[in-house]
Amino acid sequence: MAARAFEEMVGREHVLTDPDLVASYVVDWTGRYRGHSPVVVRPGSVDEVAALVGFCAAHEVALTLQGGNTGLVGGSVPLRGEVVLSLRRLDAIGAVDDGSGQVTVGSGVTIGQLQSEVGRSGWAYGVDLASRDSASIGGTIATNAGGLRVLCYGDTRAQVRGVEAVLGDGSVIAHLGGLLKDNTGYDLGRLLCGSEGTLGVVTSARLALVHPAAVRAVALLAFDTVGSAVRASAALRWVHAGLEAVELFLQPGLELVCSAFGLSAPFKTVFGAYLLVEAGDCDDPTDRLGEVVASLEGVGDVALARNAPQRAALWRYREAHTDAIARLGIAHKLDVAVPLGRLCELVERVPGVVTAAAPGARTWLFGHAADGNVHVNITGVAPEDESVDSAVLDLVASLDGSISAEHGIGVAKRRFLELSRSPSEIAAMRAVKAALDPAGILNPNVLL
Ligand code: MLT
Ligand code: ZN
Repeated sequence: MAARAFEEMVGREHVLTDPDLVASYVVDWTGRYRGHSPVVVRPGSVDEVAALVGFCAAHEVALTLQGGNTGLVGGSVPLRGEVVLSLRRLDAIGAVDDGSGQVTVGSGVTIGQLQSEVGRSGWAYGVDLASRDSASIGGTIATNAGGLRVLCYGDTRAQVRGVEAVLGDGSVIAHLGGLLKDNTGYDLGRLLCGSEGTLGVVTSARLALVHPAAVRAVALLAFDTVGSAVRASAALRWVHAGLEAVELFLQPGLELVCSAFGLSAPFKTVFGAYLLVEAGDCDDPTDRLGEVVASLEGVGDVALARNAPQRAALWRYREAHTDAIARLGIAHKLDVAVPLGRLCELVERVPGVVTAAAPGARTWLFGHAADGNVHVNITGVAPEDESVDSAVLDLVASLDGSISAEHGIGVAKRRFLELSRSPSEIAAMRAVKAALDPAGILNPNVLL
């Protein structure tokens, strides 16, 4: 019945009901969350999205919003038979405005497509992440994605200059003019950043671009202890102006990546912790990075890339963690942040906390050291067993941290929300949700 109405709105070929075609839309990337849906609708314009959402609000049809479906907290899975609203066809990229350094982009464009398009005119987008070839602009706005260069350019919210979106009643809000100053009431566009598709459907965004560094240097630093690596990551931020990334991983993760992908180890000796450091500048920053690294305490060995293939090879040790862990089975993925002064304590205590809760489990720790953000991945635990999640998130809360640094709350962490948000804050969130999505049809399983 609804499918027929959807066909009239978006065209028959963009309404999928064949279970074989629907199948890839009802399971997430991790495989931990699997749902079901009678229909996937793929609108091609903001007007079609508005008509669809308006219809669903009037008929109380729940929607699960989906971009690249690369989320890691189950947020884009139709767990209760929701209609899937896929935004992938909204894939227009406007002309780069060289004066303002901005571009208007459809929400279905992937980060990789945007990077290569704006790269043609000498620009870059400040958000980059390992899933760049699938993750969409709309999805990364909905989750306020962080990624590999938050240290340098900030998170997704920091790039957003305006948003076009359809609210839960089908009305459209649009501010894509890219004004740098605009204090005319609530900033609804930025409110949608990190709202996880619960307040509106982002259809387009006006994004700030950055001038990429002309030349880059990448080094892999090895340390005996996590403490030395964490102290070095803090020191690096203040002594190197062009720093773009400081990423942490540990020996077990490095071994796993090397064995999963047949890579040779970066050093002859085994160390405890590693920092992958990238710096950019207008002149070759390699020597400067080498000098800075030499001034750090606790560095046991260094691999300094001298060319692009060597830089990519060093990044592979860090970026391949997610895929290597996925080969072990369905992982519990806990993405957390703590104040930088407590990062070492978090990394040292998590494995013990996990083992106490689930003796057979294995813990894999890696992440964005300069942001105090650790990806706690746990394998060897049944997907539905949340005892390890609970134990780790309790520890994070006790360290004044956040239970979600960059992946969002989704379905995975919904029942833990009060560890990071007070009752008054959650009540305010509910009030905002009720105002912008009065029928409660947008991503009803997510966040609240
Ligand atoms: C990363 O930084 O690699 C991502 O957030 C992915 C992950 O946590 O697996
Ligand atoms: Zn990450």
